[in-house]
Amino acid sequence: MTKNIIKHDFVISKTHRNKANKHPSFVLWFTGLSGSGKSTIANAVEEQLFAMGMQTYSLDGDNIRKGINNDLGFSEEERHENLRRIAEVSKLFVDAGIITLASFISPTRKDRAMVKEIVGAAQFFEVFVDTPLHICESRDPKGLYKKARAGEIKNFTGIDAPYEPPLKPDLHLLTENEPLDVCVEKVITFVKQIPI
Ligand code: ADX
Repeated sequence: MTKNIIKHDFVISKTHRNKANKHPSFVLWFTGLSGSGKSTIANAVEEQLFAMGMQTYSLDGDNIRKGINNDLGFSEEERHENLRRIAEVSKLFVDAGIITLASFISPTRKDRAMVKEIVGAAQFFEVFVDTPLHICESRDPKGLYKKARAGEIKNFTGIDAPYEPPLKPDLHLLTENEPLDVCVEKVITFVKQIPI
């Protein structure tokens, strides 16, 4: 399909943009169960980075699954395609010099490895938002766990679809023991030591 496609090298590169912005660009990939707090933490991190004058953008289910990926559901294959496209979009954002905060359940190690491969290992950082299922379920902000338990939603992560925790995340946030501001501070500290 890509046989006759030849890559064009543009003059202005990521290096130029990073220099102009005075910060590196990379993906912070937040993975965890639905309701674990991925987007909440990512949002708070983005606010701080933005306040420091950094170029940032957040990607999550709301802006992706309602837009570019509105043709995809939650089977194993569809999640794979969801994450493949998100990885490609994230890669473009990073090339554009933007710190990209991506919050997706991304339940399998295989798919997260694919994302890392597409984005590039040097600019991909996995943040495990580790919130136990019983807490996510008790929060149930969208009422989806209740529906999943009632059998109204199939393939719901943590209920009748698997979640494989990262084995070696770059950052491991145990949200049960650490309040939001501590989790956010950990991410900010981590970001500050990433070289340009
Ligand atoms: S992923 O598995 O493909 O990475 P993604 O992060 O895009 O999932 O979307 C997850 C969000 O979709 C959940 O937070 C929840 O609001 C909603 N959702 C709807 N159906 C499901 C389902 N079967 N499993 C998990 N999340 C679902």
